[in-house]
Amino acid sequence: MKLSVPDYILAIKPYSPGKPLEELEREYGISDSIKLASNENPLGPSPLAVKAIQDAIGNLNRYPDGSGHDLVKNIAKKLGVATGNIVLGNGSDEIIGMITRALLCPGDEAIMPYPSFLMYNIMICCAGATPVQVPLKSFCVDLDGIRDRISSRTRMIFICNPNNPTGTVVSKKDFKDFLQSIPDGVLLVVDEAYIEFVRDKNCVRSIDYLDSGIALVILRTFSKAYGLAGLRIGYGIMPQEIASLLNRVRQPFNANSLAQVGAGAALEDKVFLGKTVSLVHEGLDFLCESLDRMNIKYFPTQANFFLIDVGKNADEVFEKMLRQGVIVRSMTSYGYPDYIRINVGLHEENVRFLNALEKII
Ligand SMILES: Cc1ncc(COP(=O)(O)O)c(C=O)c1O
Repeated sequence: MKLSVPDYILAIKPYSPGKPLEELEREYGISDSIKLASNENPLGPSPLAVKAIQDAIGNLNRYPDGSGHDLVKNIAKKLGVATGNIVLGNGSDEIIGMITRALLCPGDEAIMPYPSFLMYNIMICCAGATPVQVPLKSFCVDLDGIRDRISSRTRMIFICNPNNPTGTVVSKKDFKDFLQSIPDGVLLVVDEAYIEFVRDKNCVRSIDYLDSGIALVILRTFSKAYGLAGLRIGYGIMPQEIASLLNRVRQPFNANSLAQVGAGAALEDKVFLGKTVSLVHEGLDFLCESLDRMNIKYFPTQANFFLIDVGKNADEVFEKMLRQGVIVRSMTSYGYPDYIRINVGLHEENVRFLNALEKII
């Protein structure tokens, strides 16, 4: 087959997701395995979301509401913003795609921390633009380093808060100072996929700057705290002018009808959200105390996942953990060859992980 493919597409390394449980069990002939690799919600989906989806399933012959009217209205009300400030996505991943498609051209640059969420890099490259990666400083997003890399070609800056995979956050003061250095014409994207788990009172909530006149898009998702990763629904919060740009490149029915009703119900499920956040905080404290006792180093986090220094090749540890039916994420592809990342699981899953880790290292 002779296709003329742009070089910048050929250069993209496909995203490699956490290994699915079914694949592990098929490959290794085991059952009862656990997955702590994709920062998912161990409690399952919000029960109110499940009920709403069951009730709506009979309408699948109809196209979804392309404007996502009810869900957008409920999100806007919850956040205290206008409906025109919200754009729905098939996961927040899709919003990253819309932003880069709408605003980046070949030759443009977009700055991002490294390591951070891998999709920024992929989407910037899909637009033919150049990702400028600024290494983390002591595991934190280096705002001074990002500021130093802003050039006349910069069109976009990504900040992940808390940062995946390190779980570190940007403080209110650092964020405020950083805003002074963003030139006109540069879009700031703040990815808050894990914001519901943050305990640090100093962490910035970038929604406070929505009306400040800066070009800002905030990414949120129903995949983590709301337990709906499989449904694929997230959203962006942004000035209306930017929302109208994204609506030009958005597919007309990008948020499917079950996702819209499921997310709407999850948004109202305060009990489930509360349970999830408590489970994560208690699980984190338990895991950290246990690792301290085992003399294993880890990096403190504000998210539902964290990095563990396994002191040896993380790919090998990943493989050995698989054989014990525990899926973790090796951080080799993120540039940390001695680290694994795990998310907090149910208590019994956390215990099983610790037992497996102890056997291996
Ligand atoms: C930082 C970050 N942003 C965005 C996403 C994607 O979320 P969604 O499932 O809404 O596409 C993830 C998923 O792991 C993530 O870690």
